Amino acid sequence: MKTIVAGNSQDEILQAAQILRAGGLVVFPTETVYGLGANALDSLAAAHIYEAKGRPSDNPLIVHLADAAGAKDYCYPTPLFERLAERFMPGPLTVILPKKDCIPETVTGGLSTVGIRVPSHPIARALLRACDLPIAAPSANLSTKPSPTRAEHAVRDLYGRVDMIIDGGPCRIGLESTIVKLTGEDSITLLRPGGVTYEQLCEICQNVTVDKAVYSKLGVNERAEAPGMKYRHYAPSAQVIIVEGPHQAVIRYIKHKSENASCGVICYEEDKACFNGPVFSLGSCKSTEQQAQKLFACLRAIDEQKEIKSVYAFMPETGGLGLAVMNRLVKAAGFIIEHVNEEK
Ligand code: TXA
Ligand code: MG
Repeated sequence: MKTIVAGNSQDEILQAAQILRAGGLVVFPTETVYGLGANALDSLAAAHIYEAKGRPSDNPLIVHLADAAGAKDYCYPTPLFERLAERFMPGPLTVILPKKDCIPETVTGGLSTVGIRVPSHPIARALLRACDLPIAAPSANLSTKPSPTRAEHAVRDLYGRVDMIIDGGPCRIGLESTIVKLTGEDSITLLRPGGVTYEQLCEICQNVTVDKAVYSKLGVNERAEAPGMKYRHYAPSAQVIIVEGPHQAVIRYIKHKSENASCGVICYEEDKACFNGPVFSLGSCKSTEQQAQKLFACLRAIDEQKEIKSVYAFMPETGGLGLAVMNRLVKAAGFIIEHVNEEK
């Protein structure tokens, strides 16, 4: 397939909209990560998304809308959805709701629910308005690779597999949207942490529960509430190992472990000088925003350096956006965490 790599002029957005209306695939930027979009009302177009990504067919796609008021055409919103929408939409939040029949089961991986998201990125919004369709879009990476936070990541994974890739520069947030399931009129389960934080959700809703899959590996017989949370994900070929403990003790431990060139380190900007081997900075330890923005590009950069066989990383703080950084890093590590104390 010929892939057009485009800028984001009005003409190019109109061309992308035409491709979507004709059943094609378009990669577009959002404030979280790049998405791989198709017409969410067209079962065949949605099937092509799974094919292009190599994605298991039971892993549902998120449906993107130009505005939250449009949600009622595709699902059954509740008063709690309206409250969340008023505060967080457009923005990095996906809400799972019972779907209407017009959304094909190909889009929802066979589920009777659908994830609804209203992105805030101006290019995503312009595209949604221009095509006048709901757009089904997972992240625009090959399945199991880190989500793309720059157009060149999507080009690397999907060139030749999609009709068009719109380059809108780096994504502001850098991690995928927060996903919530509504479990009552004043209760929510947080299935995937992201740009809308746990603390922000607590301001809107009395009972916010964090799903177990955010912190820990599911047992073989456990069902993931968000099917995507059960897959190995975000992972570079090198083995990522997370180290938890007092900061100086972790530095000493990683320094000792990473003395050869086949071992990399993911660390904060402030600690870079402590290590000799290949070092990948996540930005300042004081800024979870920087860490979120840089994490996936770091994991991709590690993948480019084939001689790196293992990578040590610090366990992130879990306040605010840190919970999302922690979740993606822990998943990249396949939940391998080493604990150190002062004596080591
Ligand atoms: O920020 C984002 O959410 C990006 C941009 C492109 O919008 N999209 C994204 O999509 O990350 P994807 O497909 O990579 O991740 C969607 C996650 C998966 O874990 C999937 O299992 C879950 O959402 N999901 C989608 N629909 C669901 C549903 N009806 N019930 C439960 N989980 C659902
Ligand atoms: Mg994804």
